[in-house]
Amino acid sequence: MALLEWSDALELGIPNIDEQHRRLLDTMNTLSSQIQHGKSGQGYAAAVQEMQDYTTFHFMEEETMMRISGFRHADSHASLHQKFIKETEEFAAIDVTNAPGKALELLLFIQEWLVDHILGVDLVFAQHYKESGGD
Ligand SMILES: [Fe+2]
Repeated sequence: MALLEWSDALELGIPNIDEQHRRLLDTMNTLSSQIQHGKSGQGYAAAVQEMQDYTTFHFMEEETMMRISGFRHADSHASLHQKFIKETEEFAAIDVTNAPGKALELLLFIQEWLVDHILGVDLVFAQHYKESGGD
Protein backbone atom coordinates (compact mmCIF):
# COMPACT_ATOMS: atom_id res chain seq x y z
CA MET A 1 0.00 0.00 0.00
CA ALA A 2 1.13 3.50 -0.85
CA LEU A 3 3.84 2.10 -3.09
CA LEU A 4 4.39 4.12 -6.19
CA GLU A 5 6.19 2.42 -9.06
CA TRP A 6 8.25 4.40 -11.50
CA SER A 7 6.84 4.25 -14.99
CA ASP A 8 8.07 5.47 -18.35
CA ALA A 9 5.01 7.68 -18.48
CA LEU A 10 6.72 9.86 -15.86
CA GLU A 11 9.81 10.43 -18.01
CA LEU A 12 10.32 14.00 -19.13
CA GLY A 13 13.32 13.32 -21.35
CA ILE A 14 15.83 15.24 -19.24
CA PRO A 15 18.11 12.51 -17.86
CA ASN A 16 19.20 14.09 -14.57
CA ILE A 17 15.68 15.23 -13.72
CA ASP A 18 14.21 11.82 -14.57
CA GLU A 19 16.85 10.14 -12.41
CA GLN A 20 16.08 12.48 -9.52
CA HIS A 21 12.35 11.89 -9.82
CA ARG A 22 12.99 8.14 -9.75
CA ARG A 23 15.11 8.48 -6.62
CA LEU A 24 12.49 10.69 -5.03
CA LEU A 25 9.91 7.95 -5.52
CA ASP A 26 12.39 5.50 -3.99
CA THR A 27 12.68 7.61 -0.84
CA MET A 28 8.87 7.67 -0.61
CA ASN A 29 8.70 3.91 -0.99
CA THR A 30 11.32 3.48 1.76
CA LEU A 31 9.18 5.71 3.95
CA SER A 32 6.11 3.65 3.07
CA SER A 33 7.77 0.43 4.24
CA GLN A 34 9.00 2.11 7.42
CA ILE A 35 5.43 3.15 8.19
CA GLN A 36 4.06 -0.33 7.52
CA HIS A 37 6.79 -2.54 8.94
CA GLY A 38 8.65 -0.37 11.39
CA LYS A 39 6.52 -1.42 14.35
CA SER A 40 8.55 0.53 16.89
CA GLY A 41 8.60 3.65 14.76
CA GLN A 42 12.38 3.41 14.61
CA GLY A 43 13.55 4.36 11.18
CA TYR A 44 10.45 6.42 10.45
CA ALA A 45 12.06 9.73 11.38
CA ALA A 46 15.16 8.84 9.37
CA ALA A 47 13.10 7.89 6.32
CA VAL A 48 11.10 11.13 6.59
CA GLN A 49 14.35 13.10 6.85
CA GLU A 50 15.89 11.35 3.84
CA MET A 51 12.81 12.01 1.73
CA GLN A 52 12.76 15.69 2.79
CA ASP A 53 16.49 16.15 2.17
CA TYR A 54 16.29 14.62 -1.27
CA THR A 55 13.18 16.64 -2.11
CA THR A 56 14.96 19.86 -1.12
CA PHE A 57 18.02 18.93 -3.19
CA HIS A 58 15.91 18.02 -6.21
CA PHE A 59 13.79 21.19 -6.08
CA MET A 60 16.92 23.33 -5.88
CA GLU A 61 18.34 21.59 -8.93
CA GLU A 62 15.14 22.12 -10.90
CA GLU A 63 14.87 25.76 -9.86
CA THR A 64 18.48 26.41 -10.86
CA MET A 65 17.81 24.91 -14.29
CA MET A 66 14.72 27.10 -14.60
CA ARG A 67 16.63 30.27 -13.88
CA ILE A 68 19.57 29.37 -16.11
CA SER A 69 17.24 28.63 -19.01
CA GLY A 70 15.11 31.75 -18.46
CA PHE A 71 11.88 29.91 -17.67
CA ARG A 72 9.22 32.55 -17.12
CA HIS A 73 7.17 30.47 -14.68
CA ALA A 74 10.15 29.87 -12.40
CA ASP A 75 8.74 31.82 -9.44
CA SER A 76 5.28 30.27 -9.46
CA HIS A 77 6.82 26.82 -9.91
CA ALA A 78 9.18 27.42 -6.98
CA SER A 79 6.27 28.44 -4.77
CA LEU A 80 4.59 25.08 -5.52
CA HIS A 81 7.80 23.41 -4.35
CA GLN A 82 7.66 25.40 -1.12
CA LYS A 83 4.07 24.31 -0.50
CA PHE A 84 5.07 20.70 -1.02
CA ILE A 85 7.92 20.98 1.48
CA LYS A 86 5.44 22.40 4.00
CA GLU A 87 3.20 19.35 3.47
CA THR A 88 6.08 16.96 4.14
CA GLU A 89 6.74 18.70 7.46
CA GLU A 90 3.41 17.27 8.68
CA PHE A 91 5.02 13.83 9.00
CA ALA A 92 6.95 14.96 12.07
CA ALA A 93 3.75 15.58 14.03
CA ILE A 94 2.39 12.07 13.43
CA ASP A 95 2.71 9.38 16.10
CA VAL A 96 3.46 6.62 13.60
CA THR A 97 3.40 3.77 16.13
CA ASN A 98 -0.17 4.53 17.21
CA ALA A 99 -1.50 6.07 14.01
CA PRO A 100 0.32 4.56 11.02
CA GLY A 101 -2.82 5.15 8.91
CA LYS A 102 -2.38 8.89 9.28
CA ALA A 103 1.18 8.69 7.99
CA LEU A 104 0.09 6.53 5.06
CA GLU A 105 -2.70 8.93 4.22
CA LEU A 106 -0.26 11.83 4.13
CA LEU A 107 2.18 9.79 2.08
CA LEU A 108 -0.53 8.93 -0.43
CA PHE A 109 -1.42 12.59 -0.70
CA ILE A 110 2.14 13.72 -1.37
CA GLN A 111 2.72 10.90 -3.86
CA GLU A 112 -0.34 11.96 -5.82
CA TRP A 113 0.86 15.55 -5.63
CA LEU A 114 4.24 14.51 -7.03
CA VAL A 115 2.77 12.58 -9.96
CA ASP A 116 0.43 15.48 -10.81
CA HIS A 117 3.34 17.89 -10.49
CA ILE A 118 5.63 15.85 -12.77
CA LEU A 119 2.97 15.36 -15.42
CA GLY A 120 1.78 18.95 -15.17
CA VAL A 121 4.14 21.82 -14.42
CA ASP A 122 7.39 19.81 -14.65
CA LEU A 123 6.37 18.70 -18.12
CA VAL A 124 5.80 22.33 -19.13
CA PHE A 125 9.26 23.21 -17.84
CA ALA A 126 10.85 20.21 -19.57
CA GLN A 127 9.44 21.33 -22.90
CA HIS A 128 10.79 24.82 -22.36
CA TYR A 129 14.17 23.47 -21.27
CA LYS A 130 14.55 21.28 -24.34
CA GLU A 131 13.46 24.10 -26.65
CA SER A 132 15.97 26.41 -25.02
CA GLY A 133 18.77 24.07 -26.00
CA GLY A 134 19.23 22.04 -22.82
CA ASP A 135 19.64 18.25 -23.20
FE1 LIG B 1 8.96 20.77 -10.06
